[in-house]
Amino acid sequence: MKTALAKTEKLEEQYQLATYKKMPIVAERGEGVWIYTSEGERYLDLYGGHAVAGTGHCHPHVVNAIKRQADELLFYSNLVYSEARARAAEKLVSVAPASLTKVFFCNSGTEANENAMRMARMATGRENVITFSGGFHGRTADAISATFLGKYREIGKPNVPGHLQAEFGDIESVRALADDSVAAIMLEPIQSMAGVRMAGPEFYQALRELCDEREIVLIYDEVQTGVGRTGEWFFAGSEAGEGVVPDIVTLAKSLGSGIPVGACLVTEKVASHIKENDLGTTFGGGMIAMAAVTATLEAIENDRMLANVRSVESYLRERLAEIEQLVQVRGRGFLLGLEFAGSAKPIHEALLAKKIITGTSSDPKVLRLLPPLCLTRNHVDEFVAALSEICQG
Ligand SMILES: Cc1ncc(COP(=O)(O)O)c(C=O)c1O
Repeated sequence: MKTALAKTEKLEEQYQLATYKKMPIVAERGEGVWIYTSEGERYLDLYGGHAVAGTGHCHPHVVNAIKRQADELLFYSNLVYSEARARAAEKLVSVAPASLTKVFFCNSGTEANENAMRMARMATGRENVITFSGGFHGRTADAISATFLGKYREIGKPNVPGHLQAEFGDIESVRALADDSVAAIMLEPIQSMAGVRMAGPEFYQALRELCDEREIVLIYDEVQTGVGRTGEWFFAGSEAGEGVVPDIVTLAKSLGSGIPVGACLVTEKVASHIKENDLGTTFGGGMIAMAAVTATLEAIENDRMLANVRSVESYLRERLAEIEQLVQVRGRGFLLGLEFAGSAKPIHEALLAKKIITGTSSDPKVLRLLPPLCLTRNHVDEFVAALSEICQG
């Protein structure tokens, strides 16, 4: 008799394009930091399905809000007002830095970035966008053209014109490009896919000053760093980023706890350049997604997840110091890159064999952790015990 795993694997491989290398599990059910499989096994999820499960899997507050909304109205577009949309926009703006006062809802990270670049071009009347070596911004045409990481621009050919590459962390490389053709500077404030790379704190401040001086729109792509992941609501305005607030913040991933949703948070000044019909999307701002956004932000607040991230991060760092094979732990909060002396791939695989899901990155030596914000010290103990055993073996 074929197992459920074998059957599902066969069907997916027969009917779905093989665009992802999959782990040999069928995820059937989730609860908090746990994923339960078709074979009745339980996995500790330190990756959250590409950083989406911020509130954990199936947080009851989020699930109930989605169920309630599904009974009322699944969808209507932006042609009507919606209480669910009004509440989500108000809630999101209420947790954002004070100068980010308006929101545009869309459906994904790449769409948020496309719209952010478009808004910057509309606001300035200029075309070029500076992005950085190692940055990842999505796979649609303009966003992939802004992605100077690995093979992405190659995949996205022909690239959209108007993209310039600077070196992450090197303000002089930005200054050299920032002439009066430049509409925006866009960056992942912590470069996740590149292997969790941060710039020195002075870099963010210098970017802000440069943008002010040359009237360039500063965009933070917080698709990964946003919504509590770093132990603050956003990297924008946080201590780690020297309190710098950009003109636009883009969000997606964990914003809807698994319901697809993206957003651009913008200043009054940027908003003043955007008129009716300048931007649009059929599904953006749909009621189910909006209910998920409000409930996600409420769950983070109700369960005090930001404080949890900060305290469990420091415990995790303390415990990781025991592991000699670790060269460095990079990142902030629950966006962490564990750098090993050699390849991280066998460690990733050995952890999976011990039923712990982690992530890799484009840096072969870096293992990435993007766990739910409700991870506890006990889960950390379980992870560190498994990692020590693997490293010693
Ligand atoms: C920093 C960053 N920006 C943008 C994206 C694209 O988001 P999406 O896959 O929702 O289009 C990603 C996805 O991994 C990301 O990590």
